[in-house]
Amino acid sequence: MIVEKQVPLQPHNTFGIVARALHLARIRTEADIAALRADPQWSELTASTPPFVLGGGSNLVITGDVRPLVLKVEIMGRRLIEATDKGWLVEAGAGENWHTFVQWTLEQGWPGLENMALIPGTVGAAPVQNIGAYGVELQDRFHSLDAVDLHTGEPFTLKAAQCGFGYRDSVFKHAPADGRSLGLAGRALITRVRFWLPKPWKPVLGYADLERRMAETGQHAPDARTLFDWVVDIRRAKLPDPAVIGNAGSFFKNPTVTPEQCADIIAREPRVVHYPMPDGTVKLAAGWLIDACGWKGRGVGNAGVYEKQALVLVNRGGATGGEVMTLAGAIQTSVYERFGIRLEPEPVVI
Ligand code: EPU
Repeated sequence: MIVEKQVPLQPHNTFGIVARALHLARIRTEADIAALRADPQWSELTASTPPFVLGGGSNLVITGDVRPLVLKVEIMGRRLIEATDKGWLVEAGAGENWHTFVQWTLEQGWPGLENMALIPGTVGAAPVQNIGAYGVELQDRFHSLDAVDLHTGEPFTLKAAQCGFGYRDSVFKHAPADGRSLGLAGRALITRVRFWLPKPWKPVLGYADLERRMAETGQHAPDARTLFDWVVDIRRAKLPDPAVIGNAGSFFKNPTVTPEQCADIIAREPRVVHYPMPDGTVKLAAGWLIDACGWKGRGVGNAGVYEKQALVLVNRGGATGGEVMTLAGAIQTSVYERFGIRLEPEPVVI
């Protein structure tokens, strides 16, 4: 097992932040994990800090050179496990590119992931933050995953109920010590993920941007491929391409408030974008709140707020993780002062 030293991380984070991993190991098979754990360097490098598992780096802010051992997951492969009259069970290696995997499932004639087209990152990172877009979350199509316990080296399998999925959240985002008995950050390395794509396929069309497309095109019963194309178009129009402008997608979660809090905000700001949730709470559009505070196009150093969508922070060239976090903090302060709402960042900060 080769542990590389001083590895540039700029190509491995979509923000394009310049930093190095002091030590990095590439994981291509389950056997690589066993070999690494058997290497004397393992105990040396993981004695004081748990390793850091890196997927596509699309939901990450790096604030300096990374001292924990970085495990770069490059486990590939995708296959159909079974097709029944109720659906398709499909599996992919954690290192597979998410969008390429979605495209491949559609080409094979297994629809169900199309609303999540073009989300940057890898298959293995998808459950970590329970990715979601246009009315579908990963947990809606998730079957199970395989992982390796980095403490013991033992492989294990988790079903959906064991992953603690929430809005952009799961057990994999929480350290074991932060109160969740199942916190698995730094402990679990996801190797493979399985998806259940039910039959008959039903389009998920409730999202405003998709309804607009239906009205514009007159297509009220789009097939999965059309829906995929619409989602790709909408995302391209609204979100910066990380290959061109560094970013990590939405930087903050959409906050949830009580109906009373929402009524209070509406009384002051009648135009606030809000969505009543099935559990009686109300979700507010963080992008709208940030926009209302006048942040679009502003920035700190080389970190900025994207001109077309205030929820996305961008690297205008040479931004440091510190600049990104300073900007994020300034946005949080102004939204709190104006609306009394604490915005919570979506990406993992290291
Ligand atoms: N809005 C503004 N100004 C802005 C940005 C947004 O007024 O600068 C308003 C929009 O007009 C719209 C509302 O806020 O009425 C919501 O905006 P949008 O529809 O763009 O969705 P979002 O809430 O910003 C969420 C997810 C995205 C996901 C889309 C589509 C979160 C934090 N973000 O964005 O996920 O693609 O919905 O489902 O939940 C991601 O997590 O990285 C991500 C891109």
